[in-house]
Amino acid sequence: MKHITCIEDLRELHKRRVPKAFFDYADRGSYAEETLRANRDDLQQIKFRQRVLVDVSKRDLSTDILGERAAMPLVLAPVGLLGMQHGDGEILACRAAQAAGIPFTQSTMSICSIEDIAASVDKPFWFQLYVMKDRGFIKSLIERAIAAKCSALVLTVDLQVMGQRHQDIKNGMTVPPEWSLSKLLDFASKPAWMSGILRGKRRTFGNLVGHLKGIDDVAALSVWINSQFDTTLNWKDIDWIRSIWPGKLVLKGILDVEDAEIAAKSGAQGIVVSNHGGRQLDGAPSSIEALPEIVDEVGSQMEIMFDSGVRSGQDVMRALALGAKSCMIGRAYAYGLGAGGQAGVAKAIELIGKELTTTMGLCGVNTIAEIGDHVLVV
Ligand SMILES: Cc1cc2nc3c(=O)[nH]c(=O)nc-3n(C[C@H](O)[C@H](O)[C@H](O)COP(=O)(O)O)c2cc1C
Repeated sequence: MKHITCIEDLRELHKRRVPKAFFDYADRGSYAEETLRANRDDLQQIKFRQRVLVDVSKRDLSTDILGERAAMPLVLAPVGLLGMQHGDGEILACRAAQAAGIPFTQSTMSICSIEDIAASVDKPFWFQLYVMKDRGFIKSLIERAIAAKCSALVLTVDLQVMGQRHQDIKNGMTVPPEWSLSKLLDFASKPAWMSGILRGKRRTFGNLVGHLKGIDDVAALSVWINSQFDTTLNWKDIDWIRSIWPGKLVLKGILDVEDAEIAAKSGAQGIVVSNHGGRQLDGAPSSIEALPEIVDEVGSQMEIMFDSGVRSGQDVMRALALGAKSCMIGRAYAYGLGAGGQAGVAKAIELIGKELTTTMGLCGVNTIAEIGDHVLVV
């Protein structure tokens, strides 16, 4: 990892080390990828004020996230199928996050189960929930997160209908992988990846398999998943979730100020301003474009987190300057995982932390609390 200087280096390494179908699954966005590109383009438009001759010797990245002390304003976002980017990927990413002093969020669509992670790490992690039609199963999933002592529930609200990623269809992306000749050749050319996957605990959805009645083979599982997106899900269901989950609740995937206003009255402690990393509604505004109005409207009532497009400490600084309290990263650490397992995730977190502390110094700021729109050129 010595010559890795930025997240793009991890991305390049991920691309070389992991089969194309899984790299593309992480890297690409929905439809024409307009929103995927807008996330990056709009962040890069935001310029900093360079300030000089300010004592910046006491820079400190630590902050509170949902009332808990964190080493920096960063959270690992829920990312499905991490265990296909690297054997035991969810466990390794969680360990890297906890070693760095930041929260890790486990996706419902993980390869390792909630129990696998809980048995492999020392501290609580966050759990992300997709609500499916089978409410009995969802109730049991929340109860499993409670039993595993998860410290926050992140309810993803922007995936009632699934956006299409053309590349996944072209690549024949399936879990576990189907054995076509082109895939076999691709897998055979990635021996380190292959041996990691074969050594990993699981190769299919660990939170689902073994917990669904009558689903005991892969074909039945994929039919079940495809039939389970619940288009009836609505704000009243938050009350039902609240009646089961007693802890901190975060709604992830808010992009519109009217939804943010309703969210502020929903009993949730926080929201993530997010367009799912440009993987859902193509043509939606970038997340950073949506952020300031939402902060103005509900920032004093609940904790505002931000994601979609963050690839550097500079990007974290931009989102914080526009009112976010912390940022989630998805691809940035998924690239790290594919590139180098736990060390790669640790590298992604370290890079972003170092970039953030340098950016703070060059903007004349010492603490996270001091960051505001005064650091930006308007
Ligand atoms: C490969 C991949 C899988 C994802 N899986 C999930 C998921 O299971 N649940 C979820 O709420 N969000 C999921 N997301 C969205 C992320 O949580 C996050 O919103 C997004 O990655 C942020 O954008 P970024 O990748 O530009 O940082 C996924 C994102 C990626 C890239």
